[in-house]
Parts: sequence; C-alpha cells; structure tokens
Amino acid sequence: MARLKTAVLISGRGSNLQALIDAAAHPDYPAEVSLVISSQGDAGGLQRARAAGIRTEVINHRAFNAKQGFEASIDATLRGAKVDLVCLAGFMRILTPWFVERWRDRLINIHPSLLPAFKGLDTHARVLAAGARFTGCTVHFVRPEMDEGPIVVQAAVPVMPTDSPDSLAARVLAAEHRCYPLAVRVIAEGRVRVRNELVEIAGAVSPADVMMFNPVG
Ligand code: GRF
Repeated sequence: MARLKTAVLISGRGSNLQALIDAAAHPDYPAEVSLVISSQGDAGGLQRARAAGIRTEVINHRAFNAKQGFEASIDATLRGAKVDLVCLAGFMRILTPWFVERWRDRLINIHPSLLPAFKGLDTHARVLAAGARFTGCTVHFVRPEMDEGPIVVQAAVPVMPTDSPDSLAARVLAAEHRCYPLAVRVIAEGRVRVRNELVEIAGAVSPADVMMFNPVG
C-alpha cells in the first residue's frame, strides 16, 4: 500500500520530527516523511532529517520581501514534492489564511497544552502560574486563528508540585512524541474526517485511538 507522503515544517531542534521519522521507520507505518522544510538554516532538525536520508529545504522568510513570497515558496515546494499532509513541528512562523486555506484539512500542528487552554507561547510557565493540575499536548488541524482547529489527538499530563517550566516541558514533550505519530497514523489510515469543525475517527472505539492519559512512565 502506498504510504501517505508527509512534509514536516520546523524551525528548531526537531524532536517531534524525530518521533515521526522513527515511527515511519517501521514498515507497517502508513506514512513517510518525504520532505523537511526549515525556516532556519541552523535548525537542529535538519541534521536529523539528513541522517535519515530525507530531502531538506531551507526557506527563510528573510529572503523574501513579503510574507506572500515566503509562503508561496513553501507551497510550491510542497506541491512539487506531491505532499499529502503537512505537519508543523516547532515551526515558528505564523501562516497566513491564504496558506492555511490552501492546505485546509491537510495541515496539522502540535501544541504543548490541552487546547483550547493555554494557546500561544510560554505555555508551561503559564500552566504553573495558573495552578493547573493537568496539562498536556494537542495535535490539531490548523485554522487561520493561532492554535485553533479541530482536535485529532490529545494527551493529558500531570503537573507535579515540584515542577519548573523546564521539567514540565520535558514531561509534556515525551507525550508529544507519542501523540504526533498516532495522529499522523490515523490520518494516513484514512480514518479521519472533519465534520462541523470536529474530528471524527472511523472505528475509534477504544480511548487509546484518540487520546492518552498520563502516558509517561
Ligand atoms: C514542541 O513543544 C511543540 O509542541 C511546539 O514547539 C516545540 C517543538 O519542539 N510547537 P521540537 O522542535 O519538535 O523538539
């Protein structure tokens, strides 16, 4: 069976990219990472992609006068590679509605909180400041509003009384590395449909199909 062709867009270390690369290394995984695009030439994730023999492209917004050109270049690269699904994984540029609509329901993101709570940056410090007992991560389809869109998979992660933003980030990141491959898997299996801005997963009967609870340890 042909595997779903995914592209992963990064700006940094690329640990979620690595989780997807590792998942795709299994022959029965229904998706492959066929392209990695980085907005930063020195992103650590580029090394991970090269080590796995994956095509890489650096597309830096500074090389363009306007956001339009930057996004058009990304779009053309994705289309040229015949990509089916685009995964944002620590991609630090906000995409315009033009790009988001062009890839509607074929563009997903991972965010380190239980959306719709704690959108935006510095999530872990804000979770701690709010005294929340649980946080987590979310893989969702991208919509023009930041960190909004139909939810595919979530994991809940406990907040410990002794946590710092860094220790909490590390616990959530371990959950991210399980959630992202699961979300791509169910999409690649053709089981995911967006209806009325909610995700339906065909054949999802067990909670493990759509969520994870305290998955660490
Ligand atoms: C992750 O925490 C992800 O949720 C957020 O950015 C971080 C990227 O980390 N969007 P990495 O580059 O995948 O290691």
